[in-house]
Amino acid sequence: MRQLGMRAVLGALLLGSTAVASIENDFSAVLKFGPRVTGTPANEGARTYLEGQFRALGYTTRRETFSYPRFDDLGSDVRVGERTLRGFALQGSAGGEVSAPVALVPGVGTPEDFRGANVRGKVAVVRRGQLPFAQKARNALAAGARGLVVVNNTDGELRSGTLGERVELPVLGVSTTTGAGLQEGQPVTLAVRVRQGDVRGVNVVAYKAGVTRPELLFGAHMDSVAGAPGANDNLSGTLAVLDLARRSVNTSLANRSYFVLFDGEEDGLRGSRAFVKDNAALVGSLRAMFNFDMVGVNADPLGVSGDGALVNAAREAVPTLQAFSGGGGGSDHASFAQAGVATLFFHTGIDRNYHQPTDTVLDPALIRTTVDAAQKTVDAVLSAAPASR
Ligand code: BES
Ligand code: ZN
Repeated sequence: MRQLGMRAVLGALLLGSTAVASIENDFSAVLKFGPRVTGTPANEGARTYLEGQFRALGYTTRRETFSYPRFDDLGSDVRVGERTLRGFALQGSAGGEVSAPVALVPGVGTPEDFRGANVRGKVAVVRRGQLPFAQKARNALAAGARGLVVVNNTDGELRSGTLGERVELPVLGVSTTTGAGLQEGQPVTLAVRVRQGDVRGVNVVAYKAGVTRPELLFGAHMDSVAGAPGANDNLSGTLAVLDLARRSVNTSLANRSYFVLFDGEEDGLRGSRAFVKDNAALVGSLRAMFNFDMVGVNADPLGVSGDGALVNAAREAVPTLQAFSGGGGGSDHASFAQAGVATLFFHTGIDRNYHQPTDTVLDPALIRTTVDAAQKTVDAVLSAAPASR
Protein backbone atom coordinates (compact mmCIF):
# COMPACT_ATOMS: atom_id res chain seq x y z
CA MET A 1 0.00 0.00 0.00
CA ARG A 2 2.63 2.39 1.13
CA GLN A 3 4.90 1.38 -1.72
CA LEU A 4 2.11 1.77 -4.23
CA GLY A 5 1.43 5.23 -2.92
CA MET A 6 5.07 6.14 -3.21
CA ARG A 7 5.16 4.84 -6.73
CA ALA A 8 2.11 6.79 -7.68
CA VAL A 9 3.59 9.97 -6.27
CA LEU A 10 6.89 9.34 -8.00
CA GLY A 11 5.11 8.51 -11.25
CA ALA A 12 3.02 11.66 -11.04
CA LEU A 13 6.13 13.72 -10.39
CA LEU A 14 7.97 12.21 -13.33
CA LEU A 15 4.96 12.45 -15.57
CA GLY A 16 4.39 16.00 -14.42
CA SER A 17 7.91 17.08 -15.16
CA THR A 18 8.13 15.43 -18.56
CA ALA A 19 4.66 16.42 -19.70
CA VAL A 20 5.05 20.04 -18.69
CA ALA A 21 8.62 20.70 -19.68
CA SER A 22 9.62 18.38 -22.46
CA ILE A 23 9.04 20.48 -25.54
CA GLU A 24 10.89 23.34 -23.87
CA ASN A 25 13.73 21.09 -22.66
CA ASP A 26 14.12 19.38 -25.99
CA PHE A 27 14.03 22.72 -27.77
CA SER A 28 16.92 24.20 -25.83
CA ALA A 29 18.88 20.94 -25.85
CA VAL A 30 18.70 20.61 -29.64
CA LEU A 31 19.02 24.28 -30.58
CA LYS A 32 22.38 24.40 -28.77
CA PHE A 33 23.96 22.24 -31.47
CA GLY A 34 23.58 25.05 -34.01
CA PRO A 35 22.58 24.64 -37.66
CA ARG A 36 21.89 20.95 -38.32
CA VAL A 37 23.24 20.78 -41.84
CA THR A 38 23.27 17.20 -43.09
CA GLY A 39 26.67 15.60 -42.69
CA THR A 40 27.86 17.91 -39.91
CA PRO A 41 28.66 17.10 -36.27
CA ALA A 42 25.80 19.38 -35.13
CA ASN A 43 23.34 17.37 -37.19
CA GLU A 44 24.69 14.16 -35.69
CA GLY A 45 24.64 15.53 -32.15
CA ALA A 46 21.02 16.59 -32.49
CA ARG A 47 20.08 13.21 -33.90
CA THR A 48 21.74 11.32 -31.05
CA TYR A 49 19.86 13.45 -28.53
CA LEU A 50 16.49 13.01 -30.27
CA GLU A 51 17.01 9.31 -30.75
CA GLY A 52 17.68 9.05 -27.01
CA GLN A 53 14.36 10.74 -26.27
CA PHE A 54 12.43 8.20 -28.35
CA ARG A 55 14.28 5.37 -26.63
CA ALA A 56 13.65 6.78 -23.17
CA LEU A 57 9.94 6.69 -24.02
CA GLY A 58 10.19 2.97 -24.81
CA TYR A 59 10.41 3.07 -28.58
CA THR A 60 12.87 1.08 -30.63
CA THR A 61 14.91 3.22 -32.99
CA ARG A 62 16.87 2.41 -36.08
CA ARG A 63 19.02 4.52 -38.34
CA GLU A 64 18.79 4.43 -42.11
CA THR A 65 21.60 6.00 -44.07
CA PHE A 66 21.80 7.30 -47.61
CA SER A 67 24.22 9.45 -49.56
CA TYR A 68 24.12 12.02 -52.32
CA PRO A 69 26.43 14.55 -53.94
CA ARG A 70 26.39 18.11 -52.60
CA PHE A 71 28.08 21.37 -53.44
CA ASP A 72 29.39 23.27 -50.40
CA ASP A 73 30.59 26.85 -50.10
CA LEU A 74 33.38 26.76 -47.55
CA GLY A 75 33.39 30.55 -47.18
CA SER A 76 33.83 32.88 -50.15
CA ASP A 77 34.48 36.61 -50.45
CA VAL A 78 35.75 39.45 -52.54
CA ARG A 79 38.56 41.59 -51.14
CA VAL A 80 38.78 45.26 -52.06
CA GLY A 81 41.91 46.87 -50.63
CA GLU A 82 41.81 46.15 -46.91
CA ARG A 83 38.14 45.21 -46.91
CA THR A 84 36.82 41.65 -47.17
CA LEU A 85 33.25 41.57 -48.45
CA ARG A 86 31.25 38.41 -47.84
CA GLY A 87 29.51 36.63 -50.68
CA PHE A 88 28.07 33.21 -51.45
CA ALA A 89 29.34 30.94 -54.21
CA LEU A 90 26.64 30.00 -56.68
CA GLN A 91 26.13 26.25 -56.75
CA GLY A 92 28.01 24.73 -59.66
CA SER A 93 30.65 27.47 -59.60
CA ALA A 94 34.31 26.59 -60.01
CA GLY A 95 36.53 27.34 -57.05
CA GLY A 96 39.50 29.64 -57.32
CA GLU A 97 41.18 32.88 -56.36
CA VAL A 98 41.43 35.63 -58.96
CA SER A 99 43.15 39.00 -58.53
CA ALA A 100 42.11 41.35 -61.34
CA PRO A 101 40.42 44.68 -61.97
CA VAL A 102 36.64 45.00 -61.84
CA ALA A 103 34.68 45.33 -65.10
CA LEU A 104 31.15 46.58 -64.50
CA VAL A 105 28.80 45.05 -67.05
CA PRO A 106 25.83 47.26 -67.88
CA GLY A 107 22.63 45.22 -67.60
CA VAL A 108 22.06 41.65 -66.52
CA GLY A 109 24.70 39.81 -68.54
CA THR A 110 23.34 39.09 -72.01
CA PRO A 111 25.95 38.58 -74.77
CA GLU A 112 25.16 42.16 -75.91
CA ASP A 113 25.75 43.48 -72.39
CA PHE A 114 29.15 41.79 -72.40
CA ARG A 115 29.99 43.22 -75.83
CA GLY A 116 29.52 46.68 -74.32
CA ALA A 117 32.07 46.02 -71.57
CA ASN A 118 35.66 44.88 -71.77
CA VAL A 119 35.77 42.03 -69.28
CA ARG A 120 38.68 40.06 -70.74
CA GLY A 121 41.03 39.01 -67.95
CA LYS A 122 38.87 40.82 -65.38
CA VAL A 123 36.33 40.15 -62.65
CA ALA A 124 32.99 40.92 -64.31
CA VAL A 125 30.12 42.31 -62.23
CA VAL A 126 26.50 41.88 -63.37
CA ARG A 127 23.06 42.38 -61.88
CA ARG A 128 20.81 39.50 -60.88
CA GLY A 129 17.57 38.97 -62.79
CA GLN A 130 15.99 38.35 -66.17
CA LEU A 131 18.20 35.52 -67.31
CA PRO A 132 19.37 32.38 -65.50
CA PHE A 133 22.60 32.55 -63.50
CA ALA A 134 24.15 29.88 -65.75
CA GLN A 135 23.63 31.99 -68.86
CA LYS A 136 25.25 35.02 -67.26
CA ALA A 137 28.18 32.83 -66.23
CA ARG A 138 28.54 31.23 -69.67
CA ASN A 139 28.40 34.64 -71.34
CA ALA A 140 31.04 35.96 -68.94
CA LEU A 141 33.27 32.98 -69.66
CA ALA A 142 32.81 33.40 -73.43
CA ALA A 143 33.73 37.09 -73.13
CA GLY A 144 36.99 36.16 -71.41
CA ALA A 145 36.19 37.10 -67.79
CA ARG A 146 38.24 35.32 -65.10
CA GLY A 147 35.55 35.58 -62.46
CA LEU A 148 31.97 36.78 -62.05
CA VAL A 149 30.15 38.62 -59.29
CA VAL A 150 26.35 38.62 -59.44
CA VAL A 151 24.76 41.48 -57.48
CA ASN A 152 21.40 40.83 -55.84
CA ASN A 153 18.34 42.75 -57.05
CA THR A 154 16.52 42.62 -53.70
CA ASP A 155 17.52 43.29 -50.10
CA GLY A 156 19.81 40.88 -48.32
CA GLU A 157 22.44 38.39 -49.31
CA LEU A 158 22.26 36.36 -52.50
CA ARG A 159 22.33 32.99 -50.75
CA SER A 160 21.87 29.52 -52.17
CA GLY A 161 21.73 30.68 -55.76
CA THR A 162 22.36 27.86 -58.18
CA LEU A 163 23.81 27.70 -61.66
CA GLY A 164 22.16 24.34 -62.20
CA GLU A 165 25.26 23.12 -64.02
CA ARG A 166 29.01 23.21 -63.64
CA VAL A 167 30.59 26.38 -65.07
CA GLU A 168 34.37 26.71 -65.22
CA LEU A 169 34.41 30.17 -63.70
CA PRO A 170 34.39 31.31 -60.06
CA VAL A 171 30.94 32.89 -59.52
CA LEU A 172 30.03 34.78 -56.36
CA GLY A 173 26.62 36.18 -55.38
CA VAL A 174 26.67 39.39 -53.30
CA SER A 175 24.19 41.81 -51.71
CA THR A 176 23.34 45.14 -53.37
CA THR A 177 25.35 46.88 -50.65
CA THR A 178 28.46 44.86 -51.48
CA GLY A 179 27.84 45.30 -55.20
CA ALA A 180 27.70 49.09 -54.78
CA GLY A 181 31.20 48.95 -53.32
CA LEU A 182 32.72 47.53 -56.52
CA GLN A 183 33.96 50.17 -58.94
CA GLU A 184 35.15 50.02 -62.53
CA GLY A 185 38.88 49.31 -62.84
CA GLN A 186 39.36 48.76 -59.11
CA PRO A 187 41.71 45.84 -58.32
CA VAL A 188 39.95 43.10 -56.34
CA THR A 189 40.62 39.54 -55.24
CA LEU A 190 37.73 37.18 -55.75
CA ALA A 191 38.04 34.06 -53.58
CA VAL A 192 35.53 31.30 -54.21
CA ARG A 193 36.16 28.33 -51.92
CA VAL A 194 33.97 25.38 -52.79
CA ARG A 195 33.87 21.64 -52.46
CA GLN A 196 31.86 19.04 -54.33
CA GLY A 197 31.55 15.78 -52.48
CA ASP A 198 29.28 13.04 -51.21
CA VAL A 199 27.21 13.67 -48.11
CA ARG A 200 25.89 10.95 -45.84
CA GLY A 201 22.40 11.48 -44.43
CA VAL A 202 20.79 9.54 -41.59
CA ASN A 203 17.06 9.11 -40.92
CA VAL A 204 15.87 8.08 -37.46
CA VAL A 205 12.95 5.67 -37.43
CA ALA A 206 11.14 5.10 -34.11
CA TYR A 207 8.47 2.47 -33.48
CA LYS A 208 7.21 0.00 -30.92
CA ALA A 209 9.12 -3.29 -31.07
CA GLY A 210 7.29 -5.73 -33.31
CA VAL A 211 5.45 -3.16 -35.40
CA THR A 212 6.43 -3.71 -39.04
CA ARG A 213 3.30 -2.69 -40.96
CA PRO A 214 2.21 0.66 -39.53
CA GLU A 215 -0.96 2.34 -40.74
CA LEU A 216 0.28 5.82 -39.97
CA LEU A 217 3.62 7.52 -40.32
CA PHE A 218 4.41 10.81 -38.61
CA GLY A 219 7.40 12.60 -40.05
CA ALA A 220 9.41 15.79 -39.86
CA HIS A 221 12.82 16.79 -41.13
CA MET A 222 15.45 17.49 -38.49
CA ASP A 223 18.14 18.99 -40.74
CA SER A 224 18.44 22.71 -41.41
CA VAL A 225 20.16 24.97 -43.94
CA ALA A 226 23.66 26.36 -43.41
CA GLY A 227 23.69 29.43 -41.20
CA ALA A 228 20.17 28.90 -39.83
CA PRO A 229 19.72 27.32 -36.39
CA GLY A 230 16.42 25.92 -37.66
CA ALA A 231 14.17 26.52 -34.66
CA ASN A 232 10.99 26.81 -36.70
CA ASP A 233 12.45 25.05 -39.77
CA ASN A 234 12.27 22.43 -38.55
CA LEU A 235 12.90 21.75 -34.89
CA SER A 236 9.24 22.73 -34.50
CA GLY A 237 8.00 19.82 -36.62
CA THR A 238 10.58 17.50 -35.09
CA LEU A 239 9.32 18.31 -31.59
CA ALA A 240 5.72 17.86 -32.75
CA VAL A 241 6.55 14.30 -33.88
CA LEU A 242 8.40 13.59 -30.64
CA ASP A 243 5.53 14.98 -28.59
CA LEU A 244 3.02 12.89 -30.51
CA ALA A 245 5.18 9.84 -29.79
CA ARG A 246 5.28 10.82 -26.13
CA ARG A 247 1.53 11.27 -25.88
CA SER A 248 0.80 8.00 -27.72
CA VAL A 249 3.32 5.73 -26.08
CA ASN A 250 0.83 3.85 -23.90
CA THR A 251 -2.05 3.92 -26.35
CA SER A 252 -3.03 1.69 -29.25
CA LEU A 253 -1.81 4.41 -31.62
CA ALA A 254 1.78 3.46 -30.84
CA ASN A 255 1.10 -0.02 -32.22
CA ARG A 256 -0.15 1.42 -35.47
CA SER A 257 2.45 4.12 -36.07
CA TYR A 258 5.98 4.93 -37.14
CA PHE A 259 7.72 8.15 -36.21
CA VAL A 260 10.45 9.29 -38.57
CA LEU A 261 12.94 12.15 -38.41
CA PHE A 262 14.20 12.80 -41.90
CA ASP A 263 17.63 14.09 -42.75
CA GLY A 264 18.67 15.78 -46.01
CA GLU A 265 15.34 17.53 -46.61
CA GLU A 266 16.97 20.88 -47.27
CA ASP A 267 19.14 19.28 -49.94
CA GLY A 268 16.09 18.17 -51.91
CA LEU A 269 13.92 15.81 -49.80
CA ARG A 270 16.80 13.32 -49.78
CA GLY A 271 15.87 11.50 -46.57
CA SER A 272 12.20 10.97 -47.34
CA ARG A 273 13.03 9.85 -50.87
CA ALA A 274 15.51 7.32 -49.48
CA PHE A 275 12.96 6.14 -46.91
CA VAL A 276 10.28 5.56 -49.52
CA LYS A 277 12.74 3.72 -51.72
CA ASP A 278 14.18 1.55 -48.94
CA ASN A 279 10.88 0.68 -47.22
CA ALA A 280 8.56 -0.06 -50.13
CA ALA A 281 6.46 -2.70 -48.33
CA LEU A 282 6.00 -0.58 -45.24
CA VAL A 283 5.16 2.50 -47.28
CA GLY A 284 2.67 0.46 -49.30
CA SER A 285 0.80 -0.49 -46.12
CA LEU A 286 0.32 3.10 -44.90
CA ARG A 287 -3.11 4.67 -44.68
CA ALA A 288 -1.62 8.09 -44.21
CA MET A 289 1.58 10.05 -43.79
CA PHE A 290 1.45 13.19 -41.63
CA ASN A 291 4.25 15.68 -42.21
CA PHE A 292 5.07 18.56 -39.87
CA ASP A 293 7.23 21.39 -41.18
CA MET A 294 7.34 24.88 -39.66
CA VAL A 295 4.62 24.70 -37.02
CA GLY A 296 6.19 26.81 -34.28
CA VAL A 297 5.69 30.41 -35.43
CA ASN A 298 2.27 31.75 -36.27
CA ALA A 299 2.88 33.55 -39.50
CA ASP A 300 -0.56 32.12 -40.39
CA PRO A 301 -3.08 30.09 -38.40
CA LEU A 302 -2.30 26.38 -38.41
CA GLY A 303 -3.17 24.94 -41.79
CA VAL A 304 -3.23 21.64 -43.62
CA SER A 305 -2.93 20.53 -47.19
CA GLY A 306 -2.68 17.26 -49.03
CA ASP A 307 -5.04 14.39 -49.71
CA GLY A 308 -8.61 15.71 -50.08
CA ALA A 309 -10.22 13.17 -47.75
CA LEU A 310 -7.59 13.75 -45.06
CA VAL A 311 -7.94 17.52 -45.32
CA ASN A 312 -11.71 17.15 -44.92
CA ALA A 313 -11.33 14.80 -41.98
CA ALA A 314 -8.87 17.17 -40.33
CA ARG A 315 -11.07 20.22 -40.79
CA GLU A 316 -14.12 18.38 -39.50
CA ALA A 317 -12.19 17.24 -36.44
CA VAL A 318 -10.61 20.67 -35.91
CA PRO A 319 -12.79 23.41 -37.44
CA THR A 320 -10.18 26.13 -36.83
CA LEU A 321 -7.72 24.47 -39.21
CA GLN A 322 -7.36 26.37 -42.43
CA ALA A 323 -6.96 24.51 -45.68
CA PHE A 324 -4.32 25.88 -47.96
CA SER A 325 -3.60 24.84 -51.46
CA GLY A 326 -0.10 24.53 -52.79
CA GLY A 327 2.17 27.29 -51.47
CA GLY A 328 4.03 26.45 -48.32
CA GLY A 329 7.00 25.11 -50.21
CA GLY A 330 8.20 21.59 -50.71
CA SER A 331 8.66 19.14 -47.88
CA ASP A 332 8.87 15.42 -47.18
CA HIS A 333 5.20 14.58 -47.67
CA ALA A 334 5.87 15.05 -51.39
CA SER A 335 8.04 11.91 -51.48
CA PHE A 336 5.20 9.86 -50.00
CA ALA A 337 2.52 11.44 -52.19
CA GLN A 338 4.64 10.54 -55.18
CA ALA A 339 4.62 6.93 -53.98
CA GLY A 340 0.81 6.98 -53.83
CA VAL A 341 0.40 7.52 -50.07
CA ALA A 342 -2.35 9.84 -48.78
CA THR A 343 -0.54 12.70 -47.05
CA LEU A 344 -1.46 15.51 -44.72
CA PHE A 345 0.95 18.41 -44.31
CA PHE A 346 0.72 20.68 -41.25
CA HIS A 347 2.31 24.14 -41.18
CA THR A 348 1.84 27.65 -39.88
CA GLY A 349 3.25 29.59 -42.83
CA ILE A 350 6.47 31.28 -43.81
CA ASP A 351 7.83 33.80 -41.37
CA ARG A 352 10.61 36.34 -41.76
CA ASN A 353 13.20 34.08 -40.15
CA TYR A 354 12.79 31.34 -42.76
CA HIS A 355 16.27 30.05 -43.70
CA GLN A 356 17.88 32.96 -41.84
CA PRO A 357 20.37 33.08 -38.96
CA THR A 358 17.47 34.53 -36.94
CA ASP A 359 15.49 31.27 -37.04
CA THR A 360 16.06 30.80 -33.31
CA VAL A 361 12.59 30.98 -31.79
CA LEU A 362 9.44 28.94 -31.59
CA ASP A 363 6.35 28.91 -29.42
CA PRO A 364 5.83 25.56 -27.66
CA ALA A 365 2.11 26.35 -27.33
CA LEU A 366 1.81 26.28 -31.13
CA ILE A 367 3.47 22.88 -31.19
CA ARG A 368 0.96 21.60 -28.63
CA THR A 369 -1.87 23.01 -30.73
CA THR A 370 -0.46 21.20 -33.75
CA VAL A 371 -0.17 17.91 -31.89
CA ASP A 372 -3.73 18.32 -30.52
CA ALA A 373 -4.98 18.85 -34.07
CA ALA A 374 -3.03 15.87 -35.38
CA GLN A 375 -4.36 13.63 -32.60
CA LYS A 376 -7.96 14.63 -33.30
CA THR A 377 -7.45 14.02 -36.99
CA VAL A 378 -5.86 10.64 -36.33
CA ASP A 379 -8.82 9.63 -34.14
CA ALA A 380 -11.21 10.57 -36.94
CA VAL A 381 -9.18 8.76 -39.59
CA LEU A 382 -8.69 5.58 -37.58
CA SER A 383 -12.31 5.35 -36.47
CA ALA A 384 -13.44 5.54 -40.09
CA ALA A 385 -13.78 2.29 -42.08
CA PRO A 386 -10.39 0.78 -42.88
CA ALA A 387 -9.04 1.66 -46.28
CA SER A 388 -9.52 -1.04 -48.88
CA ARG A 389 -5.90 -1.29 -49.99
N1 BES B 1 10.36 24.07 -44.39
C1 BES B 1 10.52 24.30 -45.79
C2 BES B 1 9.22 24.13 -46.55
C3 BES B 1 8.14 25.04 -46.05
C4 BES B 1 8.10 26.35 -46.48
C5 BES B 1 7.17 24.57 -45.17
C6 BES B 1 7.12 27.17 -46.03
C7 BES B 1 6.19 25.42 -44.72
C8 BES B 1 6.16 26.73 -45.15
C9 BES B 1 11.54 23.33 -46.37
O1 BES B 1 12.53 22.99 -45.46
C10 BES B 1 12.17 23.98 -47.58
O2 BES B 1 12.86 24.95 -47.47
N2 BES B 1 11.86 23.43 -48.75
C11 BES B 1 12.33 23.93 -49.98
C12 BES B 1 12.30 22.86 -51.03
C13 BES B 1 13.14 21.64 -50.72
C14 BES B 1 12.93 20.58 -51.76
C15 BES B 1 14.61 21.99 -50.58
C16 BES B 1 11.43 25.07 -50.47
O3 BES B 1 10.25 25.10 -50.10
O4 BES B 1 11.93 25.91 -51.22
ZN1 ZN C 1 11.63 22.76 -43.60
